[in-house]
Amino acid sequence: MNFINFNNAGASLLEPSTKNEISKYLKLETEISGYYIEQKKKKILDKFYFNAAKLLNCKPEEISFLQSTTYGWNLFVNSITTKKNSNIVIFDNEYGSNYISLINNNFNVRVSKLKENGEISFEDLKEKIDKNTALVAVCHIASQCGNILDIEKLGKFIKKANPKIIFLIDACQSVGHLKLNVKKNFCDVLVCSGRKYLRGPRGTGLIFIKDSIQKIITPKIIDTTKSKIIGRNLSIFNNKNIFETFEYSPSLKLGLSKAIEKFNNLGHKKVELKIKNLSKYFRKKISLNSFVTLHENKKLISGINTFSIKGKASYDIYTFLRQKKIITSISTFQTSTHYFKKKNLNNIIRVSFHYFNKKKEVDYLVSNINDFTKGIK
Ligand SMILES: Cc1ncc(COP(=O)(O)O)c(C=O)c1O
Repeated sequence: MNFINFNNAGASLLEPSTKNEISKYLKLETEISGYYIEQKKKKILDKFYFNAAKLLNCKPEEISFLQSTTYGWNLFVNSITTKKNSNIVIFDNEYGSNYISLINNNFNVRVSKLKENGEISFEDLKEKIDKNTALVAVCHIASQCGNILDIEKLGKFIKKANPKIIFLIDACQSVGHLKLNVKKNFCDVLVCSGRKYLRGPRGTGLIFIKDSIQKIITPKIIDTTKSKIIGRNLSIFNNKNIFETFEYSPSLKLGLSKAIEKFNNLGHKKVELKIKNLSKYFRKKISLNSFVTLHENKKLISGINTFSIKGKASYDIYTFLRQKKIITSISTFQTSTHYFKKKNLNNIIRVSFHYFNKKKEVDYLVSNINDFTKGIK
C-alpha cells in the first residue's frame, strides 16, 4: 500500500508531467551551458508570467517568481515606505512567519479579531483602521484553520475606508484551490507558494504586485538587472517583475509554470468542488465520533480540516496515522500564536485533501481515527 498524502496544505504531490518538464530542463543544463539554455528556452520560460497572469487576472509584468510565500511577504513589507506613525493591520489567524517579519522590523501592528464563527468582524476592523494604516494583510485560508475568509468583501471595505491602504492577500493555501481574481478582490499584492494546492515543485512561489504599487515601493533587494549605478546614485530602470534578481532556478520556474497551466486548464470550479466534497464527506463521517472536535465553521470550509481528540496528544495521533501510511500534519502554537491563544490550544491535527484524493482513502482515515479513539472513556 502506498502512502496517502493528506498533507496537501504542507506539500502536495508533484504532477508527473511537471516533474518531466523539470527533468528535461535539468538534462539540458547537465549537457549544455546553463546560461545558453536559458536563452534558448526564453520563450517557454516567459510563459510562466502569462500562466500566472491568467491564474490571478493580472498583467504578466506584475508577477515575480520567488522561492516561497515567506520570501515574498518579507520582501514586500520591507519595501514599502511607511511613516513613523504608520500601522499595519493583520487578523488573528495570521501565519507565524508573517507576524515574525512585522515584529522583526518593528512595525506598529494591530490585530483585528475574527468573529467566533471564523468570519471577518468588520466592526472590529473599522476600529483598527485609521488614517495612518499603510497596509491590511489577510490570510485567505490560514495554515492552521480551513475557514475561507471573504476577501472580496474585505477588499471592498478597505478601499472604501481609504483607497491608499495597500491590501495584501496571503494566498498560500488558497492558490490552486479556489478562484483568485485580484481585480475582483481589490487586491494590491498577493503572495503564494507553488508546492501546495498548485502541485508545483518545492522552493517555488510568486508575488503579484499591482503596477501602481510597484511604482511607489523600493525593492529591498535589487541588482544590476533592474538598476544602474550613476556616480554614487542608483537609478531603477526596470519596474517589471520587480522582486526578481539575476539568479534563480529556471527548471523550477518552468515546473511551477506547468503546474499553474494545469490548474488553469482544469478550471477552479472542478478542483474546488472535488476538494470541498471530500472535506464534507470526511466531516460528516468523523462527526459521528464524539471524541473528535473539528475546529472549522462548516459554512466556511475548504480542503483544510483540523481537529483534536479528547485527552490525546496531537503527536500520538499523527504518529499512529503515519504508521498506517496516512500522512497528516500538526499545526503548532508557533504557526499562529494569536489563533492558538484565542482557541486555548497548543496544537491540532490537520488533514488537507486535494482533488486526486479518493473517498475510500477518507474512509480508511476515518476508520483509523475511530480505532485510535477506542478505549477512550
Ligand atoms: C497561510 C500561510 N502563509 C504563509 C506560509 C509560508 O509559506 P512558505 O513556507 O512557502 O514560505 C504558509 C505555509 O504553510 C501558510 O500556510
